[in-house]
Amino acid sequence: MPEIVLEHLEHGHAQELYEIIEDNREYLVGWIQCVESINSAEDIRLFIEAELFRYTQLKPPYFTIKCDEEICGLIAFRSLDKNNKIGTISYWLSKAFTGKGIASQAVKKLITIGFEEFSLNKIQISCASNNLKSRAIPERLGFTYEATLRQCEWLNSTYVDHAIYTMLATEYYSAQNPLYSSRVPATSRSRLDPASTDNDT
Ligand SMILES: CC(C)(COP(=O)(O)OP(=O)(O)OC[C@H]1O[C@@H](n2cnc3c(N)ncnc32)[C@H](O)[C@@H]1OP(=O)(O)O)[C@@H](O)C(=O)NCCC(=O)NCCS
Repeated sequence: MPEIVLEHLEHGHAQELYEIIEDNREYLVGWIQCVESINSAEDIRLFIEAELFRYTQLKPPYFTIKCDEEICGLIAFRSLDKNNKIGTISYWLSKAFTGKGIASQAVKKLITIGFEEFSLNKIQISCASNNLKSRAIPERLGFTYEATLRQCEWLNSTYVDHAIYTMLATEYYSAQNPLYSSRVPATSRSRLDPASTDNDT
């Protein structure tokens, strides 16, 4: 699988992202609501500007997914509920980069950022019920299917149901979860890790 990097979304990405969206418009419009309202690089610049303004202290939690220096998609906490420490992840890939595990790898990286840097308690992925490629990602990564919400998004001229998948911080930090335990050996788990007993003594 190609190695990927997540890079904070910045003004300079607008033109390249617009070109990718144009090339993939037909494929993306069925699944990503905001694509219909993006008609120029300026629309993306304005979006980035608004997000930079919204997150005055922090950088906005939007990341380009880069593979060999090329942008192949976007991933974000499209909503962050700071009071309840819940983040909702959203993602898309340029069609040419699908089928290689890139989105799953990007979600893994964002999960790490969410639990370890943002101290979230719960990460959520909300997929249109019929978006099987998208649903396969949280299923592959060990999320729990929680519920299906009825008619919760207006997409492609119809209301679609959403399947909700979640992972809790306790599940992320559990020794059984390879997302964390394979990355950080038990002996070096930090104070961030609520499941670690190393700090109790
Ligand atoms: C949703 C979307 C990102 C999924 O893309 P994807 O390429 O299927 O997902 P991944 O990058 O994780 O790749 C998984 C595929 O690569 C394969 N793969 C190859 N190597 C892999 C690896 N090391 N790890 C995981 N999967 C791997 C998997 O078998 C799977 O292929 P399959 O579907 O034929 O079984 C993509 O379809 C998309 O952008 N759709 C439009 C936007 C959208 O729907 N966004 C989600 C809104 S909720």
